[in-house]
Amino acid sequence: MNATANVVAMSGRRVLVTGGARGLGAAFAQALVQAGARVVITDILHEQGQALALSLGSAVHYLPMDMVDPSAVRSSVDQAAQWLGGLDGLVNNAAITNSGGKDMQDIDLATWDQVMAVNVRGPWLATVAAHPHLKASGSGRVVNIASDTALWGAPRLMAYVASKGAVISMTRSMARELGPDGITVNAIAPGLTLVEATAYIPQHRHDLYMQGRALQRPQVPEDLTAAVLFLLSPASGFITGQLLPVNGGFVMH
Ligand SMILES: NC(=O)c1ccc[n+]([C@@H]2O[C@H](COP(=O)([O-])OP(=O)(O)OC[C@H]3O[C@@H](n4cnc5c(N)ncnc54)[C@H](O)[C@@H]3O)[C@@H](O)[C@H]2O)c1
Repeated sequence: MNATANVVAMSGRRVLVTGGARGLGAAFAQALVQAGARVVITDILHEQGQALALSLGSAVHYLPMDMVDPSAVRSSVDQAAQWLGGLDGLVNNAAITNSGGKDMQDIDLATWDQVMAVNVRGPWLATVAAHPHLKASGSGRVVNIASDTALWGAPRLMAYVASKGAVISMTRSMARELGPDGITVNAIAPGLTLVEATAYIPQHRHDLYMQGRALQRPQVPEDLTAAVLFLLSPASGFITGQLLPVNGGFVMH
């Protein structure tokens, strides 16, 4: 068991992680399993998703789910709940950046719409599909993965930043709408974290984060897992509608 598993007991919890084939989603899935949860990961990277599920053992299952396809979202969420025998937690992690490095004048409409469809419409649809299952759980949890770029106004990333601002706002409305069913909805805002997807980011942006953090070291996926597990656990039952930046103090919210 790792440090996260020791802090947050997730024994028997049934969790769906979208976009879980690689990167942070894969780290969340791994930490969840180590803490005793059973997990369905969904993605559009089918080979990677299947290989990851296989490597994590029998508590993990992979299902294809394209966040931009409303009927696929609904049927995959239902299949996930069926495989797990119910659903206690949903991590809305799948997202795309696509607008990275571009001035806002250079972002085309199709890119803008695609980013919004995956990053904003996707979590909305997944949460709606998960709602009856989370309600039946009695201690349903939604964790939305936002980004601290929405808090400090990161330039040349506008479609993505706008989408993550929407995720933060959506978290608050969802919390009020789902609260009567005993479901909590919270968001975390990671800082720039070293994963495959951020390898393209220029060194000067990494340097900016390094120098701006209160804790001056690179951020790694394991820095985020305990926060996500806590917000998925029964222990966080009276925390809802909140945003937790996990970024070494780069932005203090
Ligand atoms: N890595 C960072 O520095 C960082 C910082 C802040 C926030 N985040 C957020 O963390 C989350 C994970 O990001 P990551 O860095 O691991 O990147 P990533 O690209 O590795 O992970 C995103 C996953 O979503 C999947 N995905 C993309 N489009 C999809 C679609 N249409 N349907 C289903 N799945 C789809 C991808 O295949 C991928 O597996 C994202 O929400 C991201 O915005 C990351």
